[in-house]
Amino acid sequence: MTIPSVADLLANNRAWAERQTKQDPGFFKRLVSQQTPAYFWIGCSDSRVPANEIVGLDPGEMFVHRNVANLAPPQDANYLSTLQYAVQVLKVAHILVVGHYGCGGVLAALQNLRLGLIDHWLSPIRTLVRDNQAELLALPTEKAQHDRLCELNVIRQVENVATNPFVQEAWEKGADLTVHGWCYSLENGLVTDLDAQISQKEDVAAIRRLTRRV
Ligand code: CO
Repeated sequence: MTIPSVADLLANNRAWAERQTKQDPGFFKRLVSQQTPAYFWIGCSDSRVPANEIVGLDPGEMFVHRNVANLAPPQDANYLSTLQYAVQVLKVAHILVVGHYGCGGVLAALQNLRLGLIDHWLSPIRTLVRDNQAELLALPTEKAQHDRLCELNVIRQVENVATNPFVQEAWEKGADLTVHGWCYSLENGLVTDLDAQISQKEDVAAIRRLTRRV
């Protein structure tokens, strides 16, 4: 694979903007005047998991937050700022927490590697390993453990989002808002719905039990 140069990227950009305008002359004008996405994506920074592309959405249709291992840590100002904006200003109808099988961040936590600052970031996943030790150890291979931990991590982050005060307040005010947990496969490009959605406060308890098996 040849690596495109920065000049190539700028040329690609010009070609893309021209194509968009040709296809839909009002495209950029509409986007300038307002942003009304119905979806908020919380995903991994991994370059192989491009949010809009995977689900076929155009610019303007999805608000996106990405970090290593798609975490929703209750004290992270970056995540909290995007979440508050998504819920209170954009009033999105769906929050998609999207992990991916083969996630390097999740593997580093599973193997308990010492890598530096990232160890602190990944510490919630090490807690998750301890909470689900029996289930993980019963799996036959490290790959199976890794894949399962990617799913458990998504479900735990769904719980984090659903217990967030902005989200809880939105539900109290009657907002139509659902948090979903998905896991994407790098091998075939397909998303698995982990069936861990929460659309009201009362759903949280059932989801909480899914990642606390000890
Ligand atoms: Co990842």
